[in-house]
Amino acid sequence: MIIQTFEYDTALAGALATRVIDAIDRQPNLVLGLPTGRTPLLFYAALRDESRARGTDWSRVRTFNLDEFVGVAPGAPGSYRAYMQRELFDAVNIPPAAVGFLDGSAADLDAECGRYERAIATAGGIDLLILGIGTNGHIGFNEPGPGLQPHTHRVGLLPATRAGNRAWFGGDLDRVPGEALSMGMATIMHARAIVLMATGAGKVPAVERMLRGPITTELPATFLQLHRDVTVMLDRAASPR
Ligand code: F6R
Repeated sequence: MIIQTFEYDTALAGALATRVIDAIDRQPNLVLGLPTGRTPLLFYAALRDESRARGTDWSRVRTFNLDEFVGVAPGAPGSYRAYMQRELFDAVNIPPAAVGFLDGSAADLDAECGRYERAIATAGGIDLLILGIGTNGHIGFNEPGPGLQPHTHRVGLLPATRAGNRAWFGGDLDRVPGEALSMGMATIMHARAIVLMATGAGKVPAVERMLRGPITTELPATFLQLHRDVTVMLDRAASPR
C-alpha cells in the first residue's frame, strides 16, 4: 500500500480531487466508485471546484456508489443518493443514466443486489474506487464479524455505524435505518485501483490495524493489504505515530 500523509484534510481533499480529474482526463469513460459520509465532504467540494476550473467533461464517466440505506427511497432526505446529488452530481455534466446506485427501497432487495453486481460487470468493472473507513474498520458497509460477504448484499448496521450516520437524519438516531445494501468485499477488491481516505484522530486505531495488523474479518479494511494498487491518504491527525 502506498501511504500519503497530508498536514491538513483540505490538502488531502485537493490532492484526491486532482487525482480523480487527472484520471478522467486520461480516460474519459472512467468507471468511478464513490463513498459518502463526513470524510469525503471536503473532497467533493474540491472535486466540484477543480472540475469547474479545468472544464472537466463528465459526459462519458460512469459512477457506482458503495452503499445505500434500506427502506430509504432514492433521493429521499437522508439517502446517500440525495447526498451525492447535492455534493457532486448537480455540479457536473454526468448523465443521470450513468449514475449507478443501489435502491434501498426496492421490493426485492436480493434481486436489487444482483442487478447492481451485473451493472458493475457490464460497465467493465470499477477503474478507481474511493473509500472511507469506519472507526470499526468497515469499508463500504462491510462490518466486522466472523465472516464477510463477497458480493453486493443486505447488511445489518452496527450501533457505532448507525450513530456515525445520525447527521443525515437530523441528528435523530431512531431515524437511522438499521440495515443497508453494500458492495461486498470482492466487489471492492476487484476495483483496478483503490484510494482510501481517512481524516481525524478518531480513525487512528482503525488505520493502524489496517496498515499493520493481521488480515482479519474483524477489521475488514485489513483485506486491502492483499490488493495490488491501494493508496491510503491520511491527514496528520489520522496518521498512526
Ligand atoms: C459510506 C461508506 C462508509 C464510510 C465510513 C466512514 O459510503 O462506505 O464506509 O466511508 O463509514 O464514514 P465517515 O466518513 O462519515 O467517517
